Amino acid sequence: MSFKKELSRKVEEIEKKLRDFLPEEAGFQKTIFEAMNYSVLAGGKRLRPLLMEESCRLFGREGKEIGPFMAAIEMIHSSSLVHDDLPAMDADEYRRGRKTTWVVYGEDMAILAGDALMIYAFETAAKAFKETDRPDLVGTCIGILAEKTGVYGMIGGQTVDVELTGKPVSEEKLDFIYRLKTGALLEASMMIGAALGGADKNQIALMEQVASDVGLAFQIQDDILDVTGSREVLGKPVGSDEKNEKTTYVTLKGLETAGSRVEYYSRRAKDALLSLPVRNDFLNELILALITREK
Ligand code: IPE
Ligand code: IPE
Ligand code: MG
Ligand code: MG
Ligand code: MG
Repeated sequence: MSFKKELSRKVEEIEKKLRDFLPEEAGFQKTIFEAMNYSVLAGGKRLRPLLMEESCRLFGREGKEIGPFMAAIEMIHSSSLVHDDLPAMDADEYRRGRKTTWVVYGEDMAILAGDALMIYAFETAAKAFKETDRPDLVGTCIGILAEKTGVYGMIGGQTVDVELTGKPVSEEKLDFIYRLKTGALLEASMMIGAALGGADKNQIALMEQVASDVGLAFQIQDDILDVTGSREVLGKPVGSDEKNEKTTYVTLKGLETAGSRVEYYSRRAKDALLSLPVRNDFLNELILALITREK
């Protein structure tokens, strides 16, 4: 099977699994369920659950507990997008090909939906305890998920990103922002996948490193596409960074250097994976395919 076909088959399966974990839209608080599901089910590349599943496959141990974690990471990622689009943050009106959550449900509900998705992610991840013969691994993974989401991860990165809006930013700080705001959730994905797949401590640390490079490359490419992409393909507005006076890799280094950085970090990530005694060709190919992604 070609890489592209395999990729769309896997994403379709993730899509199905994800639906099973979303809340039913019923009860007096129905609006919050609708807003949560609207944001998550709008589509999206599902890269984080995919990286988690493939990192698990890399190490070989098979267990049912990965399902709740795959859903959880996508919920956390979606919650970060709902908040990132709010008028107080990037003030964007399109996401994943439709109006952003705050435009449809109002700012109040979008704030609540973001909060709800983030905490429902942990409620969901905790369901893994019921399906596992390795509660120790599940506990470790919930810890990773929390750390990479919070102040030492995505939220920490978004904080510095917001604070430095409109101000000059050094390359060192920009790297810090990217490794946290975007890298951290990719790190969680690959570390949790590896841990559930049976990787040892050193191997999990290597996966963290790999994912950090993939995350940096991913965010630089996101900056590039904000300049060179189109709203139709991306499903979100272009020019958001310029509108918000963001310093990005593109404003700091120019398009060409930014592009070669994407390639450099992606290749370094793939090469690090090759140092392991196990291998997953699909995962290697996925990391390289992200270099030329157009959405
Ligand atoms: C967008 O992430 C936000 C960033 C961290 C750059 P994705 O590009 O993975 O968005 P979806 O999930 O496909 O919508
Ligand atoms: C956001 O970075 C990363 C998140 C943690 C959501 P951006 O603000 O560049 O992401 P997009 O371009 O809106 O998806
Ligand atoms: Mg932002
Ligand atoms: Mg944004
Ligand atoms: Mg962006």
